[in-house]
Amino acid sequence: MIVVFSGAGLSAESGIPTFRGAGGLWEGYKIEEVATPLGWMQNQKLVLDFYTQGFEKMQQCQPNAAHFAIAELANHFNVVCITQNIDTLLEKAGVKDVWHIHGRIDHEKCEWHFDIPPMYAQWQCNYKAQINKPVQWGDLCPKCGKHLRPDVVWFGEAVDMRVDDLYKIQSQVEVFIVVGTSAQVYPAANLLKFFQAVPTKYFIDPNPNYEVLDGFNVLEGKATEYLPALVESLKEELA
Ligand code: APR
Repeated sequence: MIVVFSGAGLSAESGIPTFRGAGGLWEGYKIEEVATPLGWMQNQKLVLDFYTQGFEKMQQCQPNAAHFAIAELANHFNVVCITQNIDTLLEKAGVKDVWHIHGRIDHEKCEWHFDIPPMYAQWQCNYKAQINKPVQWGDLCPKCGKHLRPDVVWFGEAVDMRVDDLYKIQSQVEVFIVVGTSAQVYPAANLLKFFQAVPTKYFIDPNPNYEVLDGFNVLEGKATEYLPALVESLKEELA
C-alpha cells in the first residue's frame, strides 16, 4: 500500500496559491476573521465572500501533472490519498475516495454541524451536501433552519483524522509520499510521525521543512517536476 499525503503545494502549479507563501491565500484577509468559528459568529458575510472567491477560483482550476501522476499511481497500486487541500483537483484528475481531512470547497454543511461526542448529538444537525454554487448569505439549512456554511475545517475546530482507518492501514504501508506541505499545521502534520516507520518515504517540496524530514528521501523541487518521474520509477520497482 502507498499513502500520499498532500498540501497546498500540490495545487500551486494549478494556480491555487499556497497558504504561507508570499501572495498566499490568506493575503488581504485576517485568518481569525475568515477561518475561525469566532470570525463566523462576528461576520458571516465576510466569511462567505472569502469562500465564494475560493469556490470560483478552484472551480476554474485544472489538475496539473502531479495530480494526474497520483491518479496514475492509484490505477496501479492500492493508494490512500490524504489531503489537506479543500480543492477537488485530485478528484478531477481521476482519484477516487480522497480523504479530505480539512473539508471540501464543494460541500456545504449546517453551521450547527459539530464534531462532538455522541452524547451531545441532540445539539447538532448533521446536514451536509455537495454543492455546485457557493453558500450565499441567507442560505439556510433545509433540515433545521440554521445558517449553512462551507464544509471546511477552521482553526480551532476538530479535524477528522479518520484515526480508526489510519490504524487499520498503518502496518501495510510500504511507501509514504508527502508532497507540497509545510507540515506545520496539526494534527495533520502528525501523519509524518504516524508513518515514521514506513520503509520508503519521499518528501517533495521546493522549500522542504527540514525539521520534519527524518528518514525521508527529499526531492527538493516542484510537485510536477518530481512526482510524475517518481510514479514511473515506483511502477517499475514495485511491479
Ligand atoms: N510543488 C510542491 N510544493 C510546493 C510548490 C510546488 N509547486 N509550491 C509551493 N510548495 C510548498 C511550499 O514550499 C510549502 O512547503 O508547499 C508548501 C505549502 O505550505 P502551506 O502554505 O503551509 O500549505 P499546507 O502545508 O497545505 O497548509 C496546511 O494550513 O491554513 C491551513 O487549512 C490550511 O490545509 C491548510 C493547512
